[in-house]
Amino acid sequence: MPPLYIITPTYRRPEQLAELTRLGYTLKHVLNLLWLVIEDANKTNPLVAHTLDRIGVPYEYLVAPMPEQYKLTKRAKPRGVSNRNRGLDYLRANATEGVLYFADDDNTYDVNIFEQMRYTKKVSMWPVGLVTKTGVSSPIIREGKLDGYYDGWIGGRKYPVDMAGFAVSVKFLHERPHAKMPFKPGYEEDGFLRSLAPLQNNEIELLADECREILTWHTQTKKNPAALPFNQTRYGNTNLAFIEKLLVRP
Ligand code: UGA
Ligand code: MN
Repeated sequence: MPPLYIITPTYRRPEQLAELTRLGYTLKHVLNLLWLVIEDANKTNPLVAHTLDRIGVPYEYLVAPMPEQYKLTKRAKPRGVSNRNRGLDYLRANATEGVLYFADDDNTYDVNIFEQMRYTKKVSMWPVGLVTKTGVSSPIIREGKLDGYYDGWIGGRKYPVDMAGFAVSVKFLHERPHAKMPFKPGYEEDGFLRSLAPLQNNEIELLADECREILTWHTQTKKNPAALPFNQTRYGNTNLAFIEKLLVRP
């Protein structure tokens, strides 16, 4: 059974441990999987490591901060890009076979898609629900063949697909040593898939019943405010002193 490498960008925010917990227990249903959790941070966070240990899915926990120049911009930021490129570096150094998949920490995944992507020869694709006003982002299949893409925003992209809608074989990645994701908001998927050239359309494998089913969703979580500090005089010597350490501060 070929191994699966699931690359998950993550960053500290009130929802982080909840998102990782939900995704982690989904991944727990999948055999022969290594979860590459890569945080946009300068150092690892023991609370994240503890959460990953508790879930019990085989993992590597790495860090890859977003470069300062992008953090400071007032415009859209390339979210999760340094993390995903760090994941690609890890695979180049540590993996020889199997399949890689970029699973953002906030999305929703039916475990069936993992078994389907496991046998990807080069690149596989499938529909992703809840993307833009069109409700879905999907390859278009006409008479059994890939015939373009359906997505609410094409933006001049060759591959107008969502991050949750494709997987790549590790062997194929090794054959494309310069493939990487660009720091270009909106064009991360397109830039990465283009960097895998040459790749013929008829080499793209179409999963999820030839793209008739939705097995992955680009869900979003409501952003929660940072927690206010507890009153130390009242709660300083109670369990809340421990819980306080788990919370994200303003
Ligand atoms: C999607 C893509 O996954 C992003 O790569 C892309 O930048 C974005 O669309 C876009 O084109 O605007 P989206 O759901 O909009 O992402 O964004 P998030 O879920 O906030 O972030 C994507 C991933 O990057 C998540 O796994 C998140 O944990 C991580 N992230 C986000 C960071 O590592 N650092 C950040 O500052 C923000
Ligand atoms: Mn998201």
